[in-house]
Amino acid sequence: MWDTLEEIAQAMVAEGKGILAADESSGTIKKRFDSINAESTETSRRDYREMLFRTRSAMTDHISGVILFDETLRQNAADGTPLVELISSAGAVPGIKVDTGAKPLAGASGEMVTEGLDGLRDRFAEYHDLGARFAKWRAVINIGSGIPSRYCLNANAHALARYAALAQEAGIVPIVEPEVIMDGDHDIDRCFEVTEAALNALYDALSEQRILLEGTVLKPNMVVSGTLNPVQAGVEEVAEKTVRCLRRCVPSAVPGIAFLSGGQSDEDATAHLSAMNAMFDLPWSLTFSYGRALQASPLKAWGGNSANVASAQSAFAHRARMNGLAASGAWTRDLEQAA
Ligand code: 13P
Repeated sequence: MWDTLEEIAQAMVAEGKGILAADESSGTIKKRFDSINAESTETSRRDYREMLFRTRSAMTDHISGVILFDETLRQNAADGTPLVELISSAGAVPGIKVDTGAKPLAGASGEMVTEGLDGLRDRFAEYHDLGARFAKWRAVINIGSGIPSRYCLNANAHALARYAALAQEAGIVPIVEPEVIMDGDHDIDRCFEVTEAALNALYDALSEQRILLEGTVLKPNMVVSGTLNPVQAGVEEVAEKTVRCLRRCVPSAVPGIAFLSGGQSDEDATAHLSAMNAMFDLPWSLTFSYGRALQASPLKAWGGNSANVASAQSAFAHRARMNGLAASGAWTRDLEQAA
């Protein structure tokens, strides 16, 4: 269906569509299930994700790709159909999270580096056989007093580029995700400065390690105020500063940018994306790769109970449609109220 890295990347950022991040590790999905008092078992995780992937309107009209965790890539639906097949039969690209998590960076208090490079070439070969056509690796960059250090930015950029090179060698499009975390009392301009430094370090490393930019997708944070800052930037300021930062740092050869939601409310994540697309003429597609901002409402509606599948699916379909509109700059707040 998609023959080259460029074709896969283009499909991932197709007009009016974006990515569903459903790649919560076993620990993270347990936390999400705890919040609705549901038990996290292999079967309940399967049932929950199968419910999302069988939401036909969302999957065919607004979801271009799904990021999976290792377990999900190997699971079958209740009727025996591989979950990967549910995704690709809806026309969406199956993807896989391949990093093994962020760990404390040696000699750098409060800073993290992402692990998972050992054995990655062999894992990519297997993931490709299992149907994955793109992958994700997330670096975690904290803002605090005196951090991030240049050391942290470079260590993470180097790992992202090594991962990206191995992905492309295996015919898999790398999503590169340098996430500047929202937590903290910093202002939006500090977030801008750190995001700019992280993206510059990333694109230096990608160039040094011979990455084909046309066969990548960037997954950045938006430029926002720290969650504890008393002054919270409004929608237009977030849109304007995020776009200014990306224009400075991201080469136009990159086909698309798919934001993480990072703890923003569902509606903020949608409003910010829509404003960027409505306000600016951009060299790349700008879309979503949301986890929480797509799943919070269906997770709550589902509540671990199979009797609620239809209402959970309609909650997911709604968020997917709102974000699909935002990816074209066509979302408005009254559409939320009408629903
Ligand atoms: P959030 O949208 O919940 O931040 O998750 C996206 C993701 O994949 C983080 O790596």
